[in-house]
Amino acid sequence: MAKSVEQLAAERVHTVPFSGIRKVFEAVRAMEAEGRDVIHWQIGRPDFDTPDHIKQAAAAALQRGEVHYAPNLGIPSLRKAIAERTKIDTGVSVDWQSQVIVMAGANEGIMVAMLAFIDPGDEVLVADPNWHHYKSCAALAGGIPVEVPTRAEASFAMEPEAVASRITEYTKMLCITSPGNPTGCVETRENLQALAELARKHNLIVLMDQIYNRIYYGEGEVAPSIYSLEGMPERTIIVNGFSKTYSMDGWRLGWTVASPELTQALLKVRQYTTVCVNTFIQHGAAEALSAGQGCVDDMIRAFAERRQIIVDGLKGIEGVTLAEPIGAFYAFPNISRFGASAEVAEYLLREHGIATVSGSVFGTAGEGHLRIAYSCSTDECHRGVDRLKQALAQLRK
Ligand SMILES: Cc1ncc(COP(=O)(O)O)c(C=O)c1O
Repeated sequence: MAKSVEQLAAERVHTVPFSGIRKVFEAVRAMEAEGRDVIHWQIGRPDFDTPDHIKQAAAAALQRGEVHYAPNLGIPSLRKAIAERTKIDTGVSVDWQSQVIVMAGANEGIMVAMLAFIDPGDEVLVADPNWHHYKSCAALAGGIPVEVPTRAEASFAMEPEAVASRITEYTKMLCITSPGNPTGCVETRENLQALAELARKHNLIVLMDQIYNRIYYGEGEVAPSIYSLEGMPERTIIVNGFSKTYSMDGWRLGWTVASPELTQALLKVRQYTTVCVNTFIQHGAAEALSAGQGCVDDMIRAFAERRQIIVDGLKGIEGVTLAEPIGAFYAFPNISRFGASAEVAEYLLREHGIATVSGSVFGTAGEGHLRIAYSCSTDECHRGVDRLKQALAQLRK
């Protein structure tokens, strides 16, 4: 008898789930088609248009005929700009020719890193709760994701003792996301020091996803990076991108920065996957990094204003607690007093038109929480907070 597609699919396909976030998107779309008013707290991307000068640079490149394959690593002007940006962000000098790869989004950087460094059976440490991508990419590469539970009381940091206790002879990689998705929390420099020590001691590769490093409300311009610490540029793969900082998520553009040796392994995989990123959009991205950064400042100011509304609003709701987010555009309140997080999220969406993502989607330790993405207008933030207050009050009764 002929095999079903389910049976034909490679084993690895069965190791990963469909995205729980996508399901919320689909439900929201159906509700809006019925004319329901929905608060959009489910979307993990900025709501701004891409700044015009960036679009113009990409359009001009297209008009000039920049329509052929780019170098596998990316166009030189963009790689130079990424190297300069990395120096600003981390204080570490980066050679643009041998250490930078332009990727089709941070997502490609993560997948390529897993394919380049994870063998079947290798263990990959990821924080719980976390954006699911590292787990799924590690699993698709044949690796074993090992979750490190984090706690709201410790600001969802990857606590060194919790990490250390999960390191085995098979541990190959430590994934760090800071600022984090879904929590908005930031790893302090002191914590990163302790994690760096573990990485050096156990010869781990560190995947440092710092895509939100400039959407940061703490001291200084950017969130701290483990790449800045002694002995870490040799073993760290930085993943970053344009989606969040420049509101360019649909462009599918990001990058990796790593040592020349690590970059060679990444490059080999890249040569057999996407080959290179779309050429003319790379010119837009080069403009994004090289031109004045006023557009980024404006977006961050807008996020800071929204964050304040959400944080103040959540603190004002009886029964809700919050580990204060210091970066990104997420808040991850504890709503466990009101029930299981998937049920509360479903209730808020169906009964009150508030779209959030259940914390359980991000791992076991996310249970009891909701992810609120405040990438919506201040008006929507205000309306959302008022609606949430009423909805939870009804549930309390
Ligand atoms: C932590 C984190 N890294 C990476 C990405 C994806 O980035 P990109 O659009 O550059 O692939 C996301 C998207 O939500 C994210 O939250």
